[in-house]
Amino acid sequence: MKVALGVCGGIAAYKAAEIVRLLQDRGIRVQVIMTDSAQEFIRPLTFAALSGEKVITGMFNRDGGAEPNIDSAIEHIAVAQSIDALVIAPATADLIAKFAQGIANDFLTTLYLATTAPVVVAPAMNVNMWDHPATQQNLGTLRKRGVKIVEPGSGYLACGMTGPGRLAENEAVVAAVMEALGAAQDLRGETVLITAGPTREKIDPVRYLSNRSSGRMGYALAEAALRRGARVLLVSGPTSLKPPSAAETTMVESAKQMLDAVLRLLPEASIVIKTAAVADYTIAKPSAQKIKRAAGMTLDLEPAPDILAETARHKKSQLVIGFAAETENVIENARKKLRTKSLDAIVVNDVSREGVGFDSDRNAVTILTGSETIPVSETTKWEVAQRVLDCVVELKRKSKVLAVSS
Ligand code: PMT
Repeated sequence: MKVALGVCGGIAAYKAAEIVRLLQDRGIRVQVIMTDSAQEFIRPLTFAALSGEKVITGMFNRDGGAEPNIDSAIEHIAVAQSIDALVIAPATADLIAKFAQGIANDFLTTLYLATTAPVVVAPAMNVNMWDHPATQQNLGTLRKRGVKIVEPGSGYLACGMTGPGRLAENEAVVAAVMEALGAAQDLRGETVLITAGPTREKIDPVRYLSNRSSGRMGYALAEAALRRGARVLLVSGPTSLKPPSAAETTMVESAKQMLDAVLRLLPEASIVIKTAAVADYTIAKPSAQKIKRAAGMTLDLEPAPDILAETARHKKSQLVIGFAAETENVIENARKKLRTKSLDAIVVNDVSREGVGFDSDRNAVTILTGSETIPVSETTKWEVAQRVLDCVVELKRKSKVLAVSS
């Protein structure tokens, strides 16, 4: 997805840099457009470095020469057609007035008229300018047109006055953009603890026991939960994937390290989802030295800690969702795990099937709760993550209803 971020001139212009990062954390490409006055407050280079895209600073890019470049003269149409949302943060009273009146005399105002994408406006200005009937009338006009206004915060303003006019918190601006992009913010306020990837049980300094988990399922859940507004605590075994930068990630190796991280973070979480493929057995006595080649070798194994069982033992009001990797009697075995591990739901995948499950971009699962069986036929892990989170949201809603009625 691609968002155009318009930055106007104001003290809050520097905050737009953080908004770029937060949007990128959610996998969104950001095209920054700066007004002339914004460039008095912050340099385009800052945004170019952060967004990795050319920053648009005017209607006519003269490429250092006297003649305007014809490509850049029609660029606003190309940008207008390529974006999924337009967000202005901070938006000045001047920009809001131009949008309301349909004045199109620079790149940003022209883009506003040329795009059919949803528009989000986050104003920031002096309290009297905000309260002025002209500004309020212009905002009313924009609201009637469906523009989402992210209300400014109240407090001490850069001009020395106190009152409304401070740019809303960056997270609130990003949440409004995500809503405009159609991503429900139904996990806002929740902290989701996700385990992902394999564990490694050390045999000696160069060898370990592990499995084929790539971490993709867990990382897709982390990314999807972030997009839906959650705070994400990701506990990951070794993978080659880059964790979403908005997730608070703890990297671990062994089942014991994963257990310690999960129990440490559990009190902060309201939802726990365990996609990690944790070792069931660990080496009883790992060798301090590399084991020499011999005619045969016997590994002495002992059970690894059952993180899910420990989570269930220590949990308070958290929802706990497990995953199950099965190869036979898939539903029956998963139902047993749902019961014996005291889970709120379990997501089972048949890992004997080709092209899904371990180390693939795709999966096919069945989500089991105490009362429901929800099949999710083969699709991307991103889509599976969305269906799992839909189920989590529903379970959360039911648990709140139960808490109120009891
Ligand atoms: O990582 P990918 O390549 O994307 O692959 C995704 C996946 C196949 C790993 C994932 O979809 C999946 O099935 N994860 C669960 C794998 C697993 O360990 O299943 P299990 O049936 O052995 O364990 C059941 C549950 O107990 C799991 O939630 C597991 O995290 C947990 N467990 C298992 C063993 C153990 N010692 N401690 C645990 O907490």
